[in-house]
Amino acid sequence: MAAYARATGAALVGFALVSGAFAYAQVAAPTDVSQKRYVARTAEEVAAARAKRVYDTVQPPNPTIIRPSLDNKRTANGLALTPPMGWNSWNKFGCKALTEKVVRDTADEMSSNGMRDAGYGYLILDDCWAGPRDAQGALTADPVKFPSGMKALGDYIHSKGLKFGIYSDAGALTCAKQPGSQGHEYQDAMSFASWGVDYLKYDWCHTGSRNSEEAYALMADALRATGRDIVFSICNWGVDRPNEFDKSLPWEWGLKIGNLWRTTSDIRNDWQGRVRFGLGVLDIVDKNEPLYPYAGPGHWNDPDMLEVGIDKNEGLTWEEQRSHFSLWAMMAAPLIVGADLTIMDDATRDILLNREVIAVDQDRLGAQGRRVRDDGDLEVWSKPLADGGRAVLLFNRSGSPARIATKWSEHGYPDALKVAARDLWAHRDLGRTKGGFSADVPSHGVVMLRIQP
Ligand code: GLA
Repeated sequence: MAAYARATGAALVGFALVSGAFAYAQVAAPTDVSQKRYVARTAEEVAAARAKRVYDTVQPPNPTIIRPSLDNKRTANGLALTPPMGWNSWNKFGCKALTEKVVRDTADEMSSNGMRDAGYGYLILDDCWAGPRDAQGALTADPVKFPSGMKALGDYIHSKGLKFGIYSDAGALTCAKQPGSQGHEYQDAMSFASWGVDYLKYDWCHTGSRNSEEAYALMADALRATGRDIVFSICNWGVDRPNEFDKSLPWEWGLKIGNLWRTTSDIRNDWQGRVRFGLGVLDIVDKNEPLYPYAGPGHWNDPDMLEVGIDKNEGLTWEEQRSHFSLWAMMAAPLIVGADLTIMDDATRDILLNREVIAVDQDRLGAQGRRVRDDGDLEVWSKPLADGGRAVLLFNRSGSPARIATKWSEHGYPDALKVAARDLWAHRDLGRTKGGFSADVPSHGVVMLRIQP
């Protein structure tokens, strides 16, 4: 213990001022620059500060904020071996319209409209479910919007064969200014577990000078301490907004902490273009695609939730919605639907319930597909699959229909090999061919194949 204390100034401070804090100090590898202003570097500085009673300058942050281990041996929880699938309230219902009725109706729909059986297992409440903290500091449900409370709601969701997801934030407040979990991590994790929560989306608003890796690791530890299996969704955006204390990006550390991490700011129901914090589908694709090496079973890049079926043919055309869904499947992205399921029409259903496309997303190899050819507006994508086959996407970004060709060699097979192809939107076998394949692809559209040598 003494040797460790001598080794680092930060540990020394921990021992000097927090009695019995060995566990704390031992894991407090002083790599976090957010500690700087609290830490007296030498024994002399500590003694001087104590003599002057300037505890603020020497105390570690609030000792209830236990420091997590960030060492390289750390591993995540082993959950989400394929990308999570489900529904989330945010894209359609936002803050004001989220109510218990919406959640119960959604549970009814998911369990009876084919979604649950196609793999959409998580029903996730986003921001704006909470009321004020109670006298003990525990989170409570908004009593007007959620009169039955979260335990009863979780029971209802489970009774429909679904899993229960919830939302909180690593800051003092959520993005919609509801109570965040900063300083309440273990308490909130225990509340979530007692309500039967199976999935936590943990956002990054109002976090001040917190270090993101540490903040997420702390909540991951708190979730694990409950003993319940809770998928951990890191909503840290990957946006380049470094403060002095936080320069890292979630895909650099997410693997050892959570199961998925956002790679962009929020999706908009539009094909292209940034509006404030919102990005169109194409903008998101171009940010998420290069991150393919970071994805794998249990740890996924998250290019944000689906806009399929949100405003029918208005925000995105049907062609664009099919492309959006196909690209998310190629990128092994979480498939989290946002539409109002009580008014789901056939066109939406045909996209969301295309089991052949879902199978590409959920392939157990867990490889994220990528662009293997980029001819400006015309692209070819490839995703290796567990059976040795590939998913292939021909993608036309241009404003008019175009013919796109691909060679089997672009997918790792000799051109002379006879390769069987199946069209995953037409649900049709295309036979075996040598050399490659070409197809007419609509504007903003895709042709998606599964090929097998
Ligand atoms: C952020 C997140 C969104 C959503 C809102 C809720 O913007 O990125 O996905 O959770 O907060 O306020």
